[in-house]
Amino acid sequence: MQKLTITRPDDWHLHLRDGAALKAVLPHTVRQFARAIVMPNLKPPVRSVVDAAAYRDRIIAAIPAGKQFEPLMTLYLTDNTSPADIIAAKASQFVKAVKYYPAGATTNSDFGVTDIRKCDPVFKAMEQVDMPLLLHGEVADRDVDMFDREKVFIEKQLLPLKQRFPNLRVVLEHITTSDAVQFVLAAHNIAATITPQHLLFNRNSLFKGGIRPHFYCLPILKREEHRQALLQAAISGNPKFFLGTDSAPHSRDSKENSCGCAGCYSALHAMELYAEVFEHADALDKLEAFASFYGPDFYQLPRNTEQITLAKTTWRIPDEVPFTESGLVPLRAGQEMTWQMA
Ligand code: DOR
Ligand code: ZN
Repeated sequence: MQKLTITRPDDWHLHLRDGAALKAVLPHTVRQFARAIVMPNLKPPVRSVVDAAAYRDRIIAAIPAGKQFEPLMTLYLTDNTSPADIIAAKASQFVKAVKYYPAGATTNSDFGVTDIRKCDPVFKAMEQVDMPLLLHGEVADRDVDMFDREKVFIEKQLLPLKQRFPNLRVVLEHITTSDAVQFVLAAHNIAATITPQHLLFNRNSLFKGGIRPHFYCLPILKREEHRQALLQAAISGNPKFFLGTDSAPHSRDSKENSCGCAGCYSALHAMELYAEVFEHADALDKLEAFASFYGPDFYQLPRNTEQITLAKTTWRIPDEVPFTESGLVPLRAGQEMTWQMA
């Protein structure tokens, strides 16, 4: 196949940051996607409808002239979030979900939840008004092995949560393990997003010839058997699995550092990366539903009506794109891509 025309996709998990960083990265997402679920982990985080409205205005102001893009906002769950915040979020119409970060688990998660059970009154309200809960599905316990944190989260926290709130709609974000795939397949009212990096790479990529900070994200890349399980889920045609890039820009300086930040930048070439994954799995016919149908269906939003075209051509991913004080290194920088979006 030389050309692939599909319904314009959406990104169901995206970090846009703020200020100069927002202005630098937003055009990349707008080129590819019609909408995105925008993560709330700013400093300080987006905790209220008022915060979300102001952030949404800043995003809309940064959309390049003449382009269409709809930011779908989220609230950052804290120990102090109240059921009233949820009711206000639902009433706003532009807040589409609430994001759970375990305190200390990842970038800007200091305001996160210290004990998931403390949020039960909030989850009750979310279940009642049908507000989806988006999970950073890792335990933050430093005694749990880095590579087991998703699996332990599922067993210790997610399973009981689903038992307490069976009708709460949940997205297990950026899944990285076969355990997550199995759990999502078996449970009700739960879906999962899958990133390009977790479909393309296993944990060996972190250490190929030396330490490779641009492959470091959270949850961290896992073993090949887990990548295979994610790939099978993505190409399965099961509507529980859909696209979410988790594109998470950090400047080169903050990645190439003695304590480097977690996050892979894929907004520049997300659809090209996914197309390559699906093509190699001989499943290009499954890309459109994964990228453009199952996400809006889960969020109960209309599917997009425009189309995009990806063509078979070779091009080189830039080593760096302009960002803030220092540049931004895209995922797989300097390497060749075989698909290009028109
Ligand atoms: O790698 C990651 N980067 N994982 C996250 O959960 C947060 C994200 C970020 O905001 O940089
Ligand atoms: Zn994320």
